Amino acid sequence: MNDRLAGIKQEILNGIDQHAGSRAAAFELRKQFLDSKTGKIGQLMKEMKSIAPEERAGFGKNINELKEWAQQRFSELDEKLKARELERRYESEKIDVTMPAQKAETGNLHPITQMRNQLIDVFAGMGFEIYEGTEIENDYYNFTALNTPKDHPARDMQDTFYLSPEFLLRTQTSAGQIHVMESKKPPIKILAPGKVFRSDDDATHSPMFFQMEGLVVDKKITLCDLKGMLDVFVRKIYGEDTTTRLRPSYFPFTEPSVEVDVSCFECGGKGCKLCKGTGWIELLGAGIVNKKVLENCGIDSEEYSGLAFGIGIDRTAMFKYGINNIKLLFESDLRVLRQINDN
Ligand code: DAH
Repeated sequence: MNDRLAGIKQEILNGIDQHAGSRAAAFELRKQFLDSKTGKIGQLMKEMKSIAPEERAGFGKNINELKEWAQQRFSELDEKLKARELERRYESEKIDVTMPAQKAETGNLHPITQMRNQLIDVFAGMGFEIYEGTEIENDYYNFTALNTPKDHPARDMQDTFYLSPEFLLRTQTSAGQIHVMESKKPPIKILAPGKVFRSDDDATHSPMFFQMEGLVVDKKITLCDLKGMLDVFVRKIYGEDTTTRLRPSYFPFTEPSVEVDVSCFECGGKGCKLCKGTGWIELLGAGIVNKKVLENCGIDSEEYSGLAFGIGIDRTAMFKYGINNIKLLFESDLRVLRQINDN
C-alpha cells in the first residue's frame, strides 16, 4: 500500500515537473489527483472498505497525509505560476518613460484667420458686434445705395465681376453697411468681415481677398471718434508706439473721406524699405458716412451721423508678418504658413 502512495507522490512530482507550465494546466493536473470524485487520492479512500479493520486507521492517516502534501505542492505551484504570469504581464506592459516622445504635428490657423480674429478681438473690446453678409450682392447694395449710381466714375475704382446685369460678387464689405442700416435703428456699431472680389491680380492684389468693414452710427459721431478707434486698433496690432495719420481722400459713401496711414512699426518713422522712406504705411480707407447714404437707409442725417472704415485683412497681415506677395497667403505652402503662429 505504501508503495502505491509513494507511486502517486512520484507521479505528482513528475507531473509538476513536466506539464504544469500554466495555471490552467496546473489546475487540470491537480484535478487528476485531488478532485473529490474522480481524483486518484479520493479513489484510494474508497478502498478503505476492503481493508482489514485493524489497518484502516493507519491507511486513512497515510492517505490524509498524502492529500495534505499534494494540496500543499499544488498551492505552492499555483503561487509560483501566478507570480510568473504577473511578471510576464509587467514585462509586456512595461513603459519606458525615458523613450523620446513621438513628435505630434500640430497645425495653426491660417494667417488671415489669425489676423481676422485679432481684429475682431480689438473691436469687440470697443463694443462692436459682428455682421456677416453674403458674397453675392446686387448692384443696389454694392454700389447704388453707397452713393455710386450707374455711370458714376467711382465705379471704375473697382473692377467688378458681374454675374448678371443685376447681380455681382461683392467688391467691398461696405455693402454690409446698407443691410445693417436698413434693418437696425441707431445706435449702430458693427464689424462686417468677409471675402470680396475684384478683377485684379498682381503682387499685392488678388481676385479674392478679405476686408473688414466697421460702421458706427449715433448722435454726434465725428472724425475724432474715428481717429481714436483707429489709434487703439494700430497700437494693439502693430505695437504700443504706433499711431495713425489721416489724409484727405475720396470715397463716394463718405464725406469727408480719409486715407489712414500707420506710423512705420519697422523703423519707428525714420524711413526704411517697408515704408519706402516715408515713415508711414498706407493702411485703410475711412470717413464720415455720407448723408446721402444715411438717407438711402431711412436714417435722419440731421439727428445722426456715422463713421465707417474698411480694413484689408490680407494687407494688415502682410505688413504685420512681413509678407511681400499676397499669393503667399493663398498658395497653402506649409513652409510659409508654419512660420506664422501669432494667436
Ligand atoms: N470700400 C472701400 C474699398 O474697398 C474701403 C472703404 C473706404 C470702406 C472708406 C469704408 C470707408 O467704410 O469709409 O476700397
